[in-house]
Amino acid sequence: MSIEAARQYLEEQGRAVDAYLATLFAETHRPAVLFQAMNYSLLSGGKRLRPVLCLATARAFGAAETDVLPAAAALELVHCYSLIHDDLPVMDDDDLRRGKPTNHKVFGEAIALLAGDALLTYAFEQLSKPLGIPHDRQLRMIHVLAHAAGCYGMVAGQVEDIQYTGTAGDEETLAFIHLHKTARLISAAVEMGGLFAGAGEAQMKALREYGTSLGLAFQMMDDVLDVTESTEQLGKPAGSDERWDKLTYPRLFGVDETRRRAEQKVEQAISALHASGIRSDVLAGLAQYVVKRRN
Ligand code: IPE
Ligand code: IPE
Ligand code: MG
Ligand code: MG
Ligand code: MG
Repeated sequence: MSIEAARQYLEEQGRAVDAYLATLFAETHRPAVLFQAMNYSLLSGGKRLRPVLCLATARAFGAAETDVLPAAAALELVHCYSLIHDDLPVMDDDDLRRGKPTNHKVFGEAIALLAGDALLTYAFEQLSKPLGIPHDRQLRMIHVLAHAAGCYGMVAGQVEDIQYTGTAGDEETLAFIHLHKTARLISAAVEMGGLFAGAGEAQMKALREYGTSLGLAFQMMDDVLDVTESTEQLGKPAGSDERWDKLTYPRLFGVDETRRRAEQKVEQAISALHASGIRSDVLAGLAQYVVKRRN
């Protein structure tokens, strides 16, 4: 599959994800501002890469994308919470996200914090609803997402991201940060797709390798795009990492070398699929898209 076809798949399936997410908090509840703040960030666009990776993986193992949507939505709920908190003044202090003022700019810091909390918690409410698959597999999906999001995953990465901001840092630390803050959740997306569709243990191992390599490439490119693209193109403030003196690959190795390493990670991701006999043009195409994207 060409990169263009993969991008189209992402766009199409992303629209299905958008439509599903719009149903989650459609009714008015009290306190209205909480639901407004949650919907503000959840329905503000974004590439929907994590849920779409989940759908594409489940499809590779014979499930229909539409059946996986409720589970895939949980990934976007966690991701969306992480972005709201990441943009807060105590974290990256950014004013723009997905081309719009950040959540705290519109609703204030307290509501933004709580909207993030609510989205994270709802992810697990969502993932524990009946999914129409055997409960042991569903339980593993819940475990995979929790492990990827919490103190062994994204939160650990975000802590070191903050701790090492403004320090010289080293490659080992940077690798820890990228693996935890980004790659774990991206790997969880493909693992959850595999679990949903009943992939075997060897295939699950390959999916974890694919997802982790892809996730590392994804964050390397996020760091590159922060340097090379405009705020308008990104929909978030360009140069945010430099402003903070964040520990990034471009800072340690330069843009060209970072790109090269990201491409290498994508090759590793695709090899992991091939080595285990997982045949999915979509997953291979999405991996290649990650290093060619411009936002
Ligand atoms: C941004 O993720 C945060 C990172 C982990 C780099 P995305 O680039 O997937 O953001 P959206 O969802 O498309 O806005
Ligand atoms: C954030 O990394 C990763 C998260 C867990 C949210 P960044 O701080 O680089 O993400 P952006 O660039 O603000 O989207
Ligand atoms: Mg950050
Ligand atoms: Mg940030
Ligand atoms: Mg970034």
